[in-house]
Amino acid sequence: MADPPWVLRSLLFVPGHRREMIAKAAQAGADAIILDLEDGVAPAEKPAARRTVAAALDGPLPDHLVVFVRVNSTASGLLDEDLREASRPRMDGVCLPKCDTSADVQALSARLLATEDRLGVPRGRLRMLALVETALGVLHAPAIARESPRVWGAVFGAEDFTADAGLPRTREGRELAAARTAVSLAAHAAGIEAIDGIFADFRDEEGLVADTAEARRLGYTGKTVIHPAQIAPVHRVFAPEPDEVAKARRIVDAFEQGEAAGSGIVVVDGAMVDRPVAVRAQRVLARAERTAT
Ligand code: COA
Ligand code: MG
Repeated sequence: MADPPWVLRSLLFVPGHRREMIAKAAQAGADAIILDLEDGVAPAEKPAARRTVAAALDGPLPDHLVVFVRVNSTASGLLDEDLREASRPRMDGVCLPKCDTSADVQALSARLLATEDRLGVPRGRLRMLALVETALGVLHAPAIARESPRVWGAVFGAEDFTADAGLPRTREGRELAAARTAVSLAAHAAGIEAIDGIFADFRDEEGLVADTAEARRLGYTGKTVIHPAQIAPVHRVFAPEPDEVAKARRIVDAFEQGEAAGSGIVVVDGAMVDRPVAVRAQRVLARAERTAT
């Protein structure tokens, strides 16, 4: 398992029944992979996908790679079988789709405790990615994000959301703005990560970069992707700019010197720096350090 704290800029989906694709996904350079048992797998393929996912988790995987399994929703009737057949000690967490209310988080949480006991891994170790992708889910996002310490991140699923909310799905994504902001705020209020949904047109790098930059502006720190070619552009967008890092360093240094001298306010580059500015700068430095690979 890859130990938290995790900095996950890219989380690559891979269909659970495609053994060779899982092997490629593990080597593609993503920070995390999500082995899918839900919508990327046709109903007839689900039993084979569970077996293939279990075998992949038992096989060689890079140590640093964070591995999630996307199970079917709590309403699907497939969740227990997914967990029973596909769970292995190497998995780091479970991605729960169609998370509509905190009851969905509770339902998975209880099952994860039983799964941990069965696998012989420490209780509480399995993390959760809550996929918020319905109108109901967006409205309940604050409660979903806070429901359990297992919830590591909230993922905003734009594709299902627009279908569910009766919205068009455009390349620019203006129709997403309110919901995407709501999920990011809910994540930050709960102190968890905000992870953006996929950009489906995997040959459109320019569109992907614009979409990822918008997510970053809204507070997202990572993005789910569907194709290896999407990983590098996403990493570039989430990397702090060198001048941003240099400025953050100046701010943190000046603030620490100010505090040591008994002042909570200093001036850097002609602008006031107080605690919230220094905290923001510290976050930039932490990210730069953890993504300097
Ligand atoms: N994980 C690992 N490898 C992948 C991959 C993924 N998600 N997507 C593509 N590849 C591999 C292909 O297998 C191919 O490998 P090869 O050159 O050794 O044959 C290579 O990358 C290039 O793929 P390409 O031909 O450009 O795309 P494709 O037509 O084979 O696949 C998709 C396109 C969209 C079908 C495929 O990317 C995919 O299935 N993505 C995941 C979709 C998913 O999980 N959806 C559910 C969650 S939203
Ligand atoms: Mg979905």
